[in-house]
Amino acid sequence: FTLSAAAKKEINMWVKKFPKGRERSALIPALWIAQKDAGGWLPEPALRLLGEMLDMAYIRVYEVATFYTMYNLEPVGTHYVQLCGTTPCWLRGSDDLIAMLKRKIGPQRSISDDGKLSWLEVECLGSCANAPMVQISNADGDHYYEDLTAESLEAVLDDLVAGRTPKPGSQSGRHTSEPAGGAL
Ligand code: FES
Repeated sequence: FTLSAAAKKEINMWVKKFPKGRERSALIPALWIAQKDAGGWLPEPALRLLGEMLDMAYIRVYEVATFYTMYNLEPVGTHYVQLCGTTPCWLRGSDDLIAMLKRKIGPQRSISDDGKLSWLEVECLGSCANAPMVQISNADGDHYYEDLTAESLEAVLDDLVAGRTPKPGSQSGRHTSEPAGGAL
């Protein structure tokens, strides 16, 4: 396993941000950079390489990587759906979205037969006002799709699988970031 030169450079930039002796504090961004570089997940050799780069035992790297749901220790689909199942999204129908994802893709962490989709239920993603919502990560970055129904989320996924990029944000036409009448 190896990281691209660009990823190594970015990790070293983070390492330099911390005082001497505290370079291990760069582990969180380093894991994130390595995951992006490795196609959305962290194979064991990637964790070992980061341990070498940050002078940390493998088990310490593994402890951090397994604590946060944003790090994937197994492969994900080309389009990786993180679905919020926390109370506001649950009250607004996240269970319907989960039922659709199970039917369309399979259980959590499984990958669709064509390799293009996988999903995971996660905790609040900070967009509760436009619940229910998902974050979809792919080579283009991370995008929020909000105010979803099972039908509108399935349409988003079908577009992505077909190579189209549906517009992120509210899928019902509702907008809450710029309330009429002035600032919040
Ligand atoms: Fe779903 Fe906050 S509860 S985004």
